[in-house]
Amino acid sequence: MEPLKLGIAGVGTVGGGLLELLTTNGAHFANIVGREIRVTGISARSREKVRNIAIDGYQWFDDPVALAKDPSNDVFIELIGGEDGVAKAAVEAALQAKKHVVTANKALLAKHGIALAKLAEKNGVSLNFEAAVAGGIPIIKTLREALGANRVRRVYGILNGTCNYILTQMQNDKRPFADVLKEAQALGYAEADPTFDIGGFDTAHKLALLTSLAFGTKVAFDQIHVEGIQTITEADIEAADSLGYRIKLLGVASESETGIEARVSPALVFKDSAIAEVSGVTNAVAIEGDFSGSVLLVGAGAGAKPTASAVAGDILDVARGLIVPPFVTPVAKLKTHKRAKLDQHYGSYYVRLALYDKPGAMAAVAKSMSDQAISLESIVQHRPQTLHAPRTAPQRSKDKAQPVIIITHETTEEAMRKALAAIEKDGNVTEAPQMIRIEEL
Ligand code: HSE
Repeated sequence: MEPLKLGIAGVGTVGGGLLELLTTNGAHFANIVGREIRVTGISARSREKVRNIAIDGYQWFDDPVALAKDPSNDVFIELIGGEDGVAKAAVEAALQAKKHVVTANKALLAKHGIALAKLAEKNGVSLNFEAAVAGGIPIIKTLREALGANRVRRVYGILNGTCNYILTQMQNDKRPFADVLKEAQALGYAEADPTFDIGGFDTAHKLALLTSLAFGTKVAFDQIHVEGIQTITEADIEAADSLGYRIKLLGVASESETGIEARVSPALVFKDSAIAEVSGVTNAVAIEGDFSGSVLLVGAGAGAKPTASAVAGDILDVARGLIVPPFVTPVAKLKTHKRAKLDQHYGSYYVRLALYDKPGAMAAVAKSMSDQAISLESIVQHRPQTLHAPRTAPQRSKDKAQPVIIITHETTEEAMRKALAAIEKDGNVTEAPQMIRIEEL
């Protein structure tokens, strides 16, 4: 059989990992798919950049679009990144030239995934993107193939290694946010612009793709509610810990009669849940299927080798001739994403208040909650950093705020927002209340 010829655009972390993998496991590929997988052309921003891997044996292209169109390759591998610009132009050019495309570009797919899928289907070629979601975890193929017979009820996960690393280190080392972020950047996990990670947008890109695959809907990045981890303080982590929880940045999407609730936000999860144990840069994705039950995949969400493994898995599918619609359901049959109102989200909540230490302040808080028919599971006047210190006679100060931690029973988000607005309006708190959803997993 003829070799499968690859044109690779982008030789950074992932591209370098892919070249290494193709060299190391080349003979193995030829055995399992019955044909050689051969890199013929390369394009990158700089030809001269010092790399761990030699690129002088391949035909060089200054312009990735020219590589995408060139007949010397059958498959175009896009590892440039960015939601528009040259990555988009090159992918479109490759699909129009009836070439299979493999990409790791979540931002591109979250914005233009449906248009590109349409182009791929029209030209009878693959658009594979396993590496775009959760690095080395094979979640796209799992949803497309192994669990394809299920109706998915909920999909959720830890989809950003940088955020999970920051939250884990804040928990373990009691270190501030900014300090740990610097470390994550130095380790090479963070996006070029780290606000993409910590603001939750990288997770939202990935969740947009998972939501489409899970529920057969058009990709709708703008319908996802996004909150990042910037507002999480050491006080929250300490209080959550003392109450039996961990704080994780989760992407969660579920479908009900009212529509799809897709959100990215910090969440409290029970310490003994499987997802609470996922620490550091590790990612995890869970799918709840109507017949499969809950399936949890855990693994490396970033890094050269795991991401290259995902890209190479997509290449193997092309080499075997497996072509499926990119979003499983053909584009013409994908439903429009109907957004469920977050106000109607039903669950328990964690609240941290900075409450003035004066008579009636706590009673006013309790009244604001009961006015919205919110039942409280616990209220703790928290003593941060001093939980285990010897007790002394309570010191009351009218002018100093005391942290108060509340865990509610299940209620709606609308009721919570109204109660917290009333608490703020009463003037007994020194700062806006912190509210974090508790996720039942
Ligand atoms: N910045 C991402 C992360 C890399 O931290 O997980 C993979 O998308």
